[in-house]
Amino acid sequence: MAMQLSGSINVKMSTLLTPFSVPAHPSPPIMSVRDRSYRQRRQHNRQSVSTAAQQGEGLQQQQPQPPFINTRPKSRTILTDPALAEMSLSEEEIEADMASAAKTASLWELLNNPEQDGTIFGNRARSATDANVLRRKGHLKEQDFLIDFMRRMHETHSCLEVMTKMEKWVNEHRKDPLRSRLKRLVPQLGQFFTPLHLVDAFLEYDEVFKLSRRKFIPPNFAELRHVVNIAQIHASAKNLRLITFDADGTLYADGCHFEQDNAMIAHIINLLQCDIHVAIVTAAGYPGEAHKFEGRLAGLLGSFRKLNLPAEVTDRFHVMGGECNYLLRVTPEDKRLEFVPDEEWKTEEMCRWHEDDIQYMLDGAEMLLMKGAKRLELEVSVMRKPRSVGIIPISPTIYEVLEDIALSAQTQLVANVPFCAFNGGNDVFVDCGNKSLGLQALMTFLGIQPHETLHVGDRFTLSGNDSATRDMCSVLWVADPNETGFFVRLLLKDIARSSLEAQHEQTMRRKLLLDV
Ligand code: IMP
Ligand code: MG
Repeated sequence: MAMQLSGSINVKMSTLLTPFSVPAHPSPPIMSVRDRSYRQRRQHNRQSVSTAAQQGEGLQQQQPQPPFINTRPKSRTILTDPALAEMSLSEEEIEADMASAAKTASLWELLNNPEQDGTIFGNRARSATDANVLRRKGHLKEQDFLIDFMRRMHETHSCLEVMTKMEKWVNEHRKDPLRSRLKRLVPQLGQFFTPLHLVDAFLEYDEVFKLSRRKFIPPNFAELRHVVNIAQIHASAKNLRLITFDADGTLYADGCHFEQDNAMIAHIINLLQCDIHVAIVTAAGYPGEAHKFEGRLAGLLGSFRKLNLPAEVTDRFHVMGGECNYLLRVTPEDKRLEFVPDEEWKTEEMCRWHEDDIQYMLDGAEMLLMKGAKRLELEVSVMRKPRSVGIIPISPTIYEVLEDIALSAQTQLVANVPFCAFNGGNDVFVDCGNKSLGLQALMTFLGIQPHETLHVGDRFTLSGNDSATRDMCSVLWVADPNETGFFVRLLLKDIARSSLEAQHEQTMRRKLLLDV
């Protein structure tokens, strides 16, 4: 299928779409007579929802649930620390836990060495796939108040109706963000820095994935996220002056680095050559050690050198490390990284942070992280740096355990300096400052406005360190580096189209002048 974009560019949507992890299209379930199809249910719900609900008010009743509802029994062992008492275990629970400790150890063994012993779950648990099934428990990485709200709307609306209403509500919200209908329906909502043409984006996506033709299965979280991303790309492309990327999980897999042949290298260089500033905004911070940042970006810097890119182009590349604590730029000749002196870019607020307050915050954070690890019986090593502290599991664990520790630290830490406590997927860190402050400083340094900026990241949940960027600019939420590649290609096509349109307009204007 070819998608005709105005001008002379023809984009083959199918070629763009291949890197997506294509959502599974389950075959319709075998239905009992009492089951109702998605369409029938929607019809039924529609009839039972009042006219007011159709306009949005009825949906207001379905407020999102907090991510954690404490269902623990009332009898508790009171710990000396009152903050931890709330999360403590009852005596019976502790005894039961002790009794099952030996069993747990063998369960981990089974999960890690599935071929050794099939006794716990019988022969069916012997494969590594089964072990992965047990590890992957839920959808904690997919939490968002707006997307969840859009999903719930599908109980009473068709996909197209959802997109039409949302597009209208987003426009209203942009005009009056504090009192808009969308703010009433989704109170956690922040700002939109551009309009979002959700209907067009949906139609474009639907042409390939046929969401509107599905009878039983409404769009899932990832599909809605894709539609919103596509709308955001089309909205941002024309005025884009700065694009920032999270590193781990967005540009490369967690804990990895740019390889020489990474496809993203070409995309980043293309963006720089389109006169767009590119920055990596990452939590990873290596104070005074530019070579450690260079190590993670070696493939990219090597390509800058190989292509002999002029300083005019590489000057547009920056790295913001430690969320907001270290800014680096590319040296003009040998394309290495060097720190930009603090006085050139740090905001007044950052300059006011006292070293004592920072260390006091990190001491508190370290204590909370260690308490969390102890409570969950997780063996960890501690990494303390001048502006951050983290725990790294040394025994096998799962995402949910790290999530619990991150949220505990986030809610219990009290400090005089801003901080970001987050679940890194394989570790939990508390950093001084956050990516919103990092972006604010970078945008002021470069003289760029929020509607001209786009941040691409993989962690936008409550425990994610990309969420803060939403205060400063538009965002793209990706699930992995493959999706980053896909969306950046789409963005580059849009940028090329905009520049062709601008050239065409200029030629027409010149022609008009000559005719006169
Ligand atoms: P991001 O996704 O690029 O923001 O990087 C987050 C990851 O960087 C964390 O999950 C850690 O594995 C790693 N990291 C390395 N040093 C630090 C640090 O000082 N603070 C926070 N994260 C760090
Ligand atoms: Mg990340």
